[in-house]
Amino acid sequence: SQYQIAVIVGSLRRDSINRKLANALIKLGPADFSFKLLEIGDLPLYNQDDDDNQAQSVVRLKSEVKAATGLIFVTPEYNRSMPGVLKNALDNASRPYGTSAWTGKPAGILGASIGQIGTALAQQHLRNTLAYLDVPTMGQPEVFIQVKEGFFDGVGDITNPDTVKFLQGWMERYVQWVKRHAQ
Ligand code: FNR
Repeated sequence: SQYQIAVIVGSLRRDSINRKLANALIKLGPADFSFKLLEIGDLPLYNQDDDDNQAQSVVRLKSEVKAATGLIFVTPEYNRSMPGVLKNALDNASRPYGTSAWTGKPAGILGASIGQIGTALAQQHLRNTLAYLDVPTMGQPEVFIQVKEGFFDGVGDITNPDTVKFLQGWMERYVQWVKRHAQ
């Protein structure tokens, strides 16, 4: 495809609702966009001592991010912030200083929670970090999904047609965002 999007899910949980949301969203992408979920569960805890000898998993993540035209983050909220695994991935691929993989990659953010304010605070913290990393992050529409019983069907599709329509609209805006900021 012409546009390759790296999708980073902020949960390592097998039955993650955020991974389900990411997979449902990907199905709404246009034909000239391809999507790849990146592995972040095998990264070491970031340690600056390793900057001159980064683990293979970090080298891989950095090359996958650098190869991508754009980014999509789909994250849960842990204790009113982004999960440590996501911050760890951001930190690992941002170093050594001057070699950050994230720079300039247009990004979109979504999140799903079982709670009512659906990852709003996690997303805001993520926006803070992405601003510093020089990642142009789409501001609107915001996506705060509350997942209740029956939100996904047995094959992982979203059951509410209004929600699918909303996400389709998000994807259309995101596609424009990527095309505008693609380098
Ligand atoms: C949570 N959860 C949660 N939810 C929320 O809306 N705000 C929060 O601050 C937290 N904090 C939190 C901390 C920790 C350590 C856990 C494990 C969970 C609940 C969270 O929304 C729920 O577990 C989701 O299912 C997590 O997303 P995944 O893993 O299903 O994608």
